[in-house]
Amino acid sequence: MTTTRRTGTFDEVPGPQGSALAGVAPEFLRDPISVLERSFREHGEMVAFPFGPKGKLGKRVVAAYHPDAAQQVLTQTERTIGRGPASTQVLEDMIGRNLMTTDGAEWRRQRRTLQPLFTPRRVAEYTALMVAEAERVTTEDVPADAERVDLHRLMLRYSLRVVGRALFSGDIDDTAPDLHRLIPLTNELIIRRTTQLVKPPLPVPTPRNRAFVRTRQELYALIDRILARTDHLAAGQERDDIVTRLRTARDPETGEGLSRQEIRDQTLLMMMAGHETTATALTFALHLLGSHPGVQQKAADETGAFLRDGGDLAEYAQRRESLVRACLLESMRLYPPVYMTEHLATEDIVLGGYQVPRGTAVFLSPWVTQRHPDFWPEPERFDPGRFLGEQSRPRYAYLPFGGGPHVCIGEHFALLAATVLLEAVLRRFRITSEDDTVTFQQTGNLRPDKPVWARLVRR
Ligand code: HEM
Repeated sequence: MTTTRRTGTFDEVPGPQGSALAGVAPEFLRDPISVLERSFREHGEMVAFPFGPKGKLGKRVVAAYHPDAAQQVLTQTERTIGRGPASTQVLEDMIGRNLMTTDGAEWRRQRRTLQPLFTPRRVAEYTALMVAEAERVTTEDVPADAERVDLHRLMLRYSLRVVGRALFSGDIDDTAPDLHRLIPLTNELIIRRTTQLVKPPLPVPTPRNRAFVRTRQELYALIDRILARTDHLAAGQERDDIVTRLRTARDPETGEGLSRQEIRDQTLLMMMAGHETTATALTFALHLLGSHPGVQQKAADETGAFLRDGGDLAEYAQRRESLVRACLLESMRLYPPVYMTEHLATEDIVLGGYQVPRGTAVFLSPWVTQRHPDFWPEPERFDPGRFLGEQSRPRYAYLPFGGGPHVCIGEHFALLAATVLLEAVLRRFRITSEDDTVTFQQTGNLRPDKPVWARLVRR
């Protein structure tokens, strides 16, 4: 006998009450991950959150935690689902019109033009520079006498150099202090403005607005300075970095190239989107390896055996399945750098068994879905074996890079850069984490909120 469940109304979606004046907004701004986790525990796979005052002035936002609902949201993007409303405008105000801030025809044109630059084959061409930077950071930046190192700081340095060199060829170390200051500041200002209930237009000179505009000017001046270094080069001349590829990229359908401003905005986006996320993924992976010596030794042995058998690091890093890659994937399951994404129902839809009206914001959370006990037994346990051999869970039970048409364009790049680094560290050092847990900020993306100490002892 089959039973069909009635589709619930929007009002019937369960969820926390929140306060009469603000709903869950204050708690959510303070500690979004706890709010998301608790809502799943207490209300299940589909939850509605009240934001703002009760009644017509407030709004209800839904979060969908089941992999099938995540699949629907991600694969319906561009049809019945659009970009999250709150963050996109602010992001555009800060870093212009690019892959992450456009929708519809404009986004499609940009994505078509950029996609060929990020296929696994094109990305593999950056392996040599990743290997060189991984060697550099593990030889030059780790003290010889195995003092404690701040993993996060080290990984920020590595990921900035890798993204920077891939984008611009030239070493951008001289701009690193400015970038290290500006990128977190930019993220923070974006979050602050996104979560501001009343947003005065940017020309109004409030202290927050002034900081926003000043930071944007600094960021643009910096990126223009870096881009100017390569302006004089003829396209394709002895270089194959992403900026050169952007300059020569053509829309396969129309043959159109990107304007100078578009090149700048995409470059800025890639710096922003690729640098901190990759560093966070690596920091947590190293921390977890440093607290699981048995797994760490096995991963080091596997890398060592591969190299002894005549393989090289680049080749090992490109293998689809390896223990090192599995450790990385498992740590991004537990600590997804992008722990939540925001979407918008552009039509009335049925999601997770409930009617969701057009105009409703929809949250997905890799953090919660990747801990769903139906798909991840003992969800809190670090077990890289989950990513080895046959895997029978739904595709969207794991979604650190999103999915569907807007799937992260840098996925292959990030996975390769991170795998290369982990191998380089494992080959040279035994890692011992000093802290049991890593505490983090949840502003925007996940980011450790203080140094992540470990000892790296030479093997
Ligand atoms: C571990 C590292 C990374 C993680 C976890 C990550 C995660 C994500 C996620 C979850 C999305 C989808 C966002 C949404 O649906 O709203 C996304 C989109 C995007 N990511 Fe990444 N990312 C990483 C690295 C990178 C790198 C290295 C680059 C560039 C070189 C990059 C560029 C982008 C861009 C341009 C988009 C927007 C794609 C579109 O909407 O068409 N990311 N990323």
